[in-house]
Amino acid sequence: MSTVEQALAVNSAQRDDRQIDQEFLAEVTNGLSTIQKTLPCKYFYDEKGSQLFEAICETSEYYVTRTECSIYKQYASEMATIIGEKALLLEPGAGSVKKIGMLLEKLVNPVGFVPMDISQEILQESSEILSQQFPHMSIDPIVIDFLNKEQIHKIFSTLPVQPLVNKRVIFFPGSTIGNFDPEDATIFLKQFADNLHVGDGLLIGVDLVKDISILEAAYDDKKGVTAEFNKNLLDRIDNELNATFSAGSFSHRALFNQDKSRIEMHLVSDEEQTVCLNGNRFSFRQHETIHTENSYKYTLDSFSLLAKKAGFQLEKVWTDDKSLFSVYYFTVV
Ligand code: AVJ
Repeated sequence: MSTVEQALAVNSAQRDDRQIDQEFLAEVTNGLSTIQKTLPCKYFYDEKGSQLFEAICETSEYYVTRTECSIYKQYASEMATIIGEKALLLEPGAGSVKKIGMLLEKLVNPVGFVPMDISQEILQESSEILSQQFPHMSIDPIVIDFLNKEQIHKIFSTLPVQPLVNKRVIFFPGSTIGNFDPEDATIFLKQFADNLHVGDGLLIGVDLVKDISILEAAYDDKKGVTAEFNKNLLDRIDNELNATFSAGSFSHRALFNQDKSRIEMHLVSDEEQTVCLNGNRFSFRQHETIHTENSYKYTLDSFSLLAKKAGFQLEKVWTDDKSLFSVYYFTVV
């Protein structure tokens, strides 16, 4: 998990106006100006937030990361076989080297690995760890905003082709795709499909729909780590945008919205209050919420259909024995 904001957050002392990240300010201002107040979840991941996310992964309730890793542990060889020889692996977002490492270990004569991230720092860190683990592999980090269409097109049009590379495979683990609503997720995946060749692959990890109690507990752990992660967003806004939220007057709430098949995270105002943000005032009724994150959950069929709409054909899917999480291999048709 990484953003430019993460780098900016390292020095989050008092700032004057010129130092304020105007895009961050604009997004927060807009989000707080709608009837249902919202904040973009990408801003969770400053240094503290990234640490808290790691801590979430360690809680007993958050099965997501642990289960996905168990699937790679059990099936990486099978994945490697279906991907085949001389593959070039690309990963949008280069947060966790552990998962790609488990895969690279099993691949037969991989041509290389291209981690792509908006943060130079994160890229460097990941690439260093991987080149130690795979000294003979070519690792070519690329600084890129993978939400930017033009940048994606530019990078993909310069990738090596046959006979050097048999196929390119995009690796997108962690159910990060679940942060997009299904429409945006389709557009996002289609953008990759459009820049790949027929037969190229997509290996993607997606969280599955399951019992509500398991889902809600995963986003509201007993130790309160997820609550802290959610509230850290307000601390960050206070520090970086000179706002007057006090995270202590908001409570964490996670609920599964069955109609939309998504976990929603909210921050609930404990009292009626007014918050200042860069000259603007935002009022909260008691129990009014800020919607901070969506985490969509799919069935095997609903996700295969989404990927099909984006131009991908299902080759194989792997799950754990409790059907908590799914990893799909799709190819471009
Ligand atoms: C990193 C987006 C996959 O949605 O499960 C974890 C983020 N939020 N707990 C998820 C998250 C609260 C996570 N993703």
